[in-house]
Amino acid sequence: MRVVFLTSSGQLGGAERVVLEAMHGLRARGATPSLLSLEAGPLLEEARRHGVDAEALTPPAELTELGEAGRPTVSVIGNLGRAVGPLPRFVKSFAARLGAAGADIVYSHGIKTHVLAALSRPSAPIVWHLHDYIGRRAVSARLLGWLARRASLALAVSESVAIDARAVLGRRLPIGVVHNPVDTDRFTPEGPQADLDSMSGLPAAGAGVVRVGLPATFARWKGHEVFLRALAAMAPDRARGYVIGGPVYRTAGSQWSLEELRTLSGELGLDGRVGFTGLVADMPSAYRALDLVVHASTSPEPFGLVIPEAMATGRAVIAVPSGGSAELFADGINAVGVSSGDPFALAAAMTALADDEPGRRRLGKAAREHAVARFGRDRFTDALMSALSGAGTGRQPLRV
Ligand code: GLC
Repeated sequence: MRVVFLTSSGQLGGAERVVLEAMHGLRARGATPSLLSLEAGPLLEEARRHGVDAEALTPPAELTELGEAGRPTVSVIGNLGRAVGPLPRFVKSFAARLGAAGADIVYSHGIKTHVLAALSRPSAPIVWHLHDYIGRRAVSARLLGWLARRASLALAVSESVAIDARAVLGRRLPIGVVHNPVDTDRFTPEGPQADLDSMSGLPAAGAGVVRVGLPATFARWKGHEVFLRALAAMAPDRARGYVIGGPVYRTAGSQWSLEELRTLSGELGLDGRVGFTGLVADMPSAYRALDLVVHASTSPEPFGLVIPEAMATGRAVIAVPSGGSAELFADGINAVGVSSGDPFALAAAMTALADDEPGRRRLGKAAREHAVARFGRDRFTDALMSALSGAGTGRQPLRV
């Protein structure tokens, strides 16, 4: 089975890390993945390192700059108008590349590539993997609704994303749910720890200082501001915060810049109390260096890959159970839930766990067990193989 993966981004955000996992799983079961991305970048390098053919087909600027996250609908429609001119030509070259790849399945992971795949009308069945709430993007929802009959199957990363997609796509195509996987042999409690202080250009933190990290892309809804305000509300010598990650998408205005976050932390009096590590390639080592991992998204989270990753690494996790992330943990048992957008609630949860080393250990142990049982690679690959081989046959997808 030749599976041609399509991605809009060439960076290594959550969706792209899931793409790499899916490629790994499919290869292990004898399928042949390849990658066609709308952008060059580290994702393609990683794919090639694992023996997967990967190429970028970069669209003209009018198409690259399209994107709905964080933008008003009128401006999206305006940009769409400008993109209409160069679109047919690009669709033609995209379709030609798809044809040359000889796909048995066209497996798309980004909203732009969902649209392009459908417009290209390949002979192979199209599978849309939904990493986002399409209902929150008015223009994308319209487009995907129109094009849904050209796809054979949609796979949502959570039940929550599937519910949203059903409202937009109706009965035009079957929608299944497959929770994302984590490599629990790589994300382990034991192993090397990153030196987050030197990565952030800070002197080593003193003994007894609890390390609290927010690993996230710089999308504006990932809760950086809440996290920084929560740190500012804690006793100054109790904890050091780490913002781990960077901007990965190209849609203008949808992300924080490092500059903005540094300014905000300065205004909050956090200089020297928070480090900005940038993107970290070896994430297990970053999680291991933390006592507490925070997820603070201010909009419902489609899935929230950092939650099971941090759980697999045996960390104590504080997370917002909203949207798909609510499906990932049991509050008080294997992670601690906190309400969204509330820096004081987050500060209280962080302080309580900062003061409770045995509590952190107990949560971390339960988290590891939960991640191994629920998010392992085999379960994911089984579900994916079955869904992809059934795509286009009319068989209803599994719910896993
Ligand atoms: C997107 C979603 C995130 C999810 C990831 C992987 O980045 O925003 O919630 O974890 O895709 O599916």
